[in-house]
Amino acid sequence: MRIGILTAGGDCPGLNAVIRSVVHRAVTNYGDEVIGFEDGYAGLLDGRYRPLDLNAVSGILARGGTILGSSRLERARFRAACVNAKELIDKSGFDALIPIGGEGTLTAAKMLHEAGVPVVGVPKTIDNDISSTDRTFGFDTAVGVATEAMDRLKTTAESHQRVMVVEVMGRHAGWIALESGMAGGAHGICLPERPFDPADLVAMVEERFARGKKFAVICVAEGAHPADGTMDYGKGAIDQFGHERFQGIGTALAYELEKRLGKEAKPVILGHVQRGGTPTAYDRVLATRFGWHAVEAVHRGEYGRMTALRGTDIEMVPLAEAVTELKRVPKDRMDEAESVF
Ligand code: F6P
Repeated sequence: MRIGILTAGGDCPGLNAVIRSVVHRAVTNYGDEVIGFEDGYAGLLDGRYRPLDLNAVSGILARGGTILGSSRLERARFRAACVNAKELIDKSGFDALIPIGGEGTLTAAKMLHEAGVPVVGVPKTIDNDISSTDRTFGFDTAVGVATEAMDRLKTTAESHQRVMVVEVMGRHAGWIALESGMAGGAHGICLPERPFDPADLVAMVEERFARGKKFAVICVAEGAHPADGTMDYGKGAIDQFGHERFQGIGTALAYELEKRLGKEAKPVILGHVQRGGTPTAYDRVLATRFGWHAVEAVHRGEYGRMTALRGTDIEMVPLAEAVTELKRVPKDRMDEAESVF
């Protein structure tokens, strides 16, 4: 068989581990040929690819990013290409396609499948917000980075009697904030799933200072927002050049707390540092398992599905099921962390 593989959307530690695993399983076990499309779906549409043999994937297991490159989907061009799926397949002559990506990539994979392209998806995102899989690789790495940042921020915060507001990724779901906040011992956690009241955070900081703890760390997901009417934070404000002036919730919240508390509060935006660098052992193993199972599914002809972690097993689930809605932090998980909310 000739199997095509591509990585699309935002990158994520563990992508190379999937690519390596697919190539090893397909080439060594089945004698397949594997081709890697460059820069996500753009490479598929352009017919831009390179052969991937065992040497091409040697030494990439621990490397962050993706050796194939990635890009965001050009929706109009993609839709147009789906209309003639046969032409798309013939351009590169593949028998099956393994797209690795987040919600957008998997939705596109579902569209390709419906258009007649034999597709097996592999989910990825540091946000861990894809339904139907208990975990995505990249999440463990991101949580580790954010946790270490909080450990480090505590010592400097304490030395200067400051409040640190750490903004982590998670636009629609607060998994990184929840788990890194818990692991890093944050004194407050703000998630997109539960609007926060800055007055509660002020009360928490004041209570800590009153009992002699002269610092606080608050972990806020980038998609978190205050409850209506509790804080004027400038979201949506447009400057004279037409640019959104909003600097992010971490910055807005630090400014607000400083104003209300009369104490120094510093924003720390972790940003893409959470997505870069080497994957943890957990993420390498999960990514490798996903790659292995994707090749098996291709050889069973089980198309229109994606690999998913269910408990400790890898299962194949319909792409349609995986992209219906994002997996958000449920109330009981928030309740477990409640002492720090
Ligand atoms: O979807 C993963 C994610 O890391 C989000 O948490 C974040 O909002 C987004 O990607 C940032 O993506 P970009 O690379 O386009 O800035």
